[in-house]
Amino acid sequence: MNSEKNAKKIVVLGTGGTIAGTASNAADNIGYTAAQVGVAQLLDAVPGLSSLLQGHALLSEQVAQVDSKDMRFDIWQTLVRRVSAHLSQPDVTGLVITHGTDTLEETAYFLHAVLPARLINSKPVVLTCAMRPASSLSPDGPQNLKEAVTVALRAGAHGVVAVCAGSVHAALDVQKNHTYQPAAFTSGDAGPLAYVEEGAVRLLRNWPLAPELKAQEAIEKIAFVSTWPRVEVVMNYAGCDGAVVDALLRCSPDASPLRGLVVAGTGNGTIHKDLEAALRRALQAGVRVVRTTRCANGRVLPAAKSEFASSDGLSPVKARVALMLDLMGR
Ligand code: SIN
Repeated sequence: MNSEKNAKKIVVLGTGGTIAGTASNAADNIGYTAAQVGVAQLLDAVPGLSSLLQGHALLSEQVAQVDSKDMRFDIWQTLVRRVSAHLSQPDVTGLVITHGTDTLEETAYFLHAVLPARLINSKPVVLTCAMRPASSLSPDGPQNLKEAVTVALRAGAHGVVAVCAGSVHAALDVQKNHTYQPAAFTSGDAGPLAYVEEGAVRLLRNWPLAPELKAQEAIEKIAFVSTWPRVEVVMNYAGCDGAVVDALLRCSPDASPLRGLVVAGTGNGTIHKDLEAALRRALQAGVRVVRTTRCANGRVLPAAKSEFASSDGLSPVKARVALMLDLMGR
């Protein structure tokens, strides 16, 4: 779109998803193909966007075009490089990313964990999405995109957040919790960070800050590393045994050895004694083990003498990202 020199800018990066999806029948909200429409075309379909911008120029860039169930590490790396490059420009005041809903929470957490504090503690990175394709009779993408730009323009906004169906969620808390309804995200116990109400942002909590312990060298390494440490998620359930863990330990190729396991425990992170024994074998083999819960709400309150590391309230998929990043920093 527009790119007037010297004007303040909002940048919109496209990565695909249902927001960019199309179906052959406008009444079909599930039998569509994700990631078909370019980000510039998505922006053109948002009514009233130019008046919202109040003199800001809008730049768009297609970083990827994928169904986010197929999200890849190399796309994350490109994304983190492009976000950093744009946010480093003094005239870029905020950034929006269009993304599929299925792994949006992982990308949001990844960006929160790796983007330099000097950038995201002063500017917002706003992920947005849609549950209905662009070709729908009543698509939710244009409204979500408009509200994401509203949040990106909001004075004082900063940190990585997600906007969907009028709610703003912090990257740390956001989680998809519905399979098809437009309001598909929750922040669990924490509650949303803000609401977008008829074009106005009502802030409920402080904008998020980057985690403090980010080593700049680790961030640079992540942006270019070619092999990511293998970290798998295993779950506890009735009748569970440790067979999956033992199989992972046996089939751990030299090229991609198992480095970490995240266990999605029951309740307060409890684990079947047979799975626990297998996880102990994994620890002895040098594999890092992190305990989380399969419960949608609440955090695991670590027992005093737990042999497995605590996820610090992260969901299983986010704890996996955190563990991969931690292993990469070593
Ligand atoms: C995707 O995650 O890319 C497809 C599903 C969606 O965006 O809702």
